[in-house]
Amino acid sequence: MVEKAGLIAGHAQAISIYTLRAQNNVKTSSHPKISNSLPAVTPEAIKELLKQVKYPGFSRDIVSFGLVRSAAFVDGTVKVALALTSSDAKIPLFLKTEVEKCLQVQPGVKAVIVDIAVTPAKTPATGGNLAGGTAPKGIARSVAIASGKGGVGKSTFSVNLACALAKILEGQGRIGRVGLMDCDIYGPSIPLMMGITGRPNVEGDNLIPMENHGVKVMSMGFLVDDNTPVIWRGPMVMKTVQQFVQNVTWGDLDILLVDLPPGTGDAQLSLVQTIPLDGAVLVTTPQIAATQIARKGGLMFQKVNVPLLGVAENMSHFTDPAGNRHALFGEGGGAKTAEALGTALLGQVPIVPAIRMGGDDGNPIVVSDPQSEAAQTFIAIAENLLRQLKTKASAPAQ
Ligand SMILES: Nc1ncnc2c1ncn2[C@@H]1O[C@H](COP(=O)(O)OP(=O)(O)O)[C@@H](O)[C@H]1O
Ligand SMILES: [Mg+2]
Repeated sequence: MVEKAGLIAGHAQAISIYTLRAQNNVKTSSHPKISNSLPAVTPEAIKELLKQVKYPGFSRDIVSFGLVRSAAFVDGTVKVALALTSSDAKIPLFLKTEVEKCLQVQPGVKAVIVDIAVTPAKTPATGGNLAGGTAPKGIARSVAIASGKGGVGKSTFSVNLACALAKILEGQGRIGRVGLMDCDIYGPSIPLMMGITGRPNVEGDNLIPMENHGVKVMSMGFLVDDNTPVIWRGPMVMKTVQQFVQNVTWGDLDILLVDLPPGTGDAQLSLVQTIPLDGAVLVTTPQIAATQIARKGGLMFQKVNVPLLGVAENMSHFTDPAGNRHALFGEGGGAKTAEALGTALLGQVPIVPAIRMGGDDGNPIVVSDPQSEAAQTFIAIAENLLRQLKTKASAPAQ
């Protein structure tokens, strides 16, 4: 089903990734002559060299990030223009130095001029944003669900949280105002867990989200064949994530949850570049192996000005039929992670076979057994998040 994926990618041109509002130009620096040889230096060759320059805090380079606007070589002078969104003045200065370091040692280069157009990032209250993307007007709040490690139950958590939010908002007469966007391009599991099959309708340039349990859903799982492995390069992931935000008819949403793939890779970065996130929730199991990586994930969001709304501990304990509690994955990891990141532990979800079965059947436990301990935990976390996001709405802009 590669055509459908291609169809989506075909609309990429319509999306403007950057809003260029040069507000602060960090300019020029000269360097001593390095060599007399003057090879033909093309913009492509310069960009190739610039792939050595990493964006601070990330493993991605500034070229694949799309931050390099132009590159030219005239009479021994290399001119490079970058455009980025950041409120951290250290970042353009750091990039300027790194670009200079990278280019000034090249044969024939006498001077390096780095021009950086900086657009201030939005305040944490409205989300962090690396490259100036905007959320569609109808989406009031967007929250990423992230984890350092895979298999901690992040998708299970996202699905149950979305259903819990939909339930609470429906109780307030706000129907159909929760969205769930599955950004796990490589292993989309949300369609199965939400009990949705089939393909979304296309209307003009836009996809119409699929819907179940009162939640609007978009996932790569709807667009690719089960038997076709998806092989995407970084820029493709980025375009897809952008289209999931901008070319999906989400309508008016109170909250859009975004299920990220584990780690701090392309999809997470694309996302923070594309949508002004209002916050992120980290999911971890209690074990050290998961909490250590979860902490890294948390630091990534803090770096790009996305506030952490809290840590959710999944698979916290198992209660056997005799009523004895067993800490199968250890104890206290969620609380420790929250403390290390200066955020709150939102709740502890037990290990319950019904949670796994609910995922496999497309009938999340929040829907199938709302009175259960697990469902009540998800509902309490949903209430907590709604409270936090409401407070943020009335917080003065920084
Ligand atoms: N609290 C839980 N109790 C029982 N099984 C769970 C729980 N959380 C997740 N699972 C199961 O663990 C597996 C991994 O969960 P998943 O949500 O796919 O993780 P991730 O998205 O982090 O990779 C799934 O089979 C899921 O049904
Ligand atoms: Mg998952």
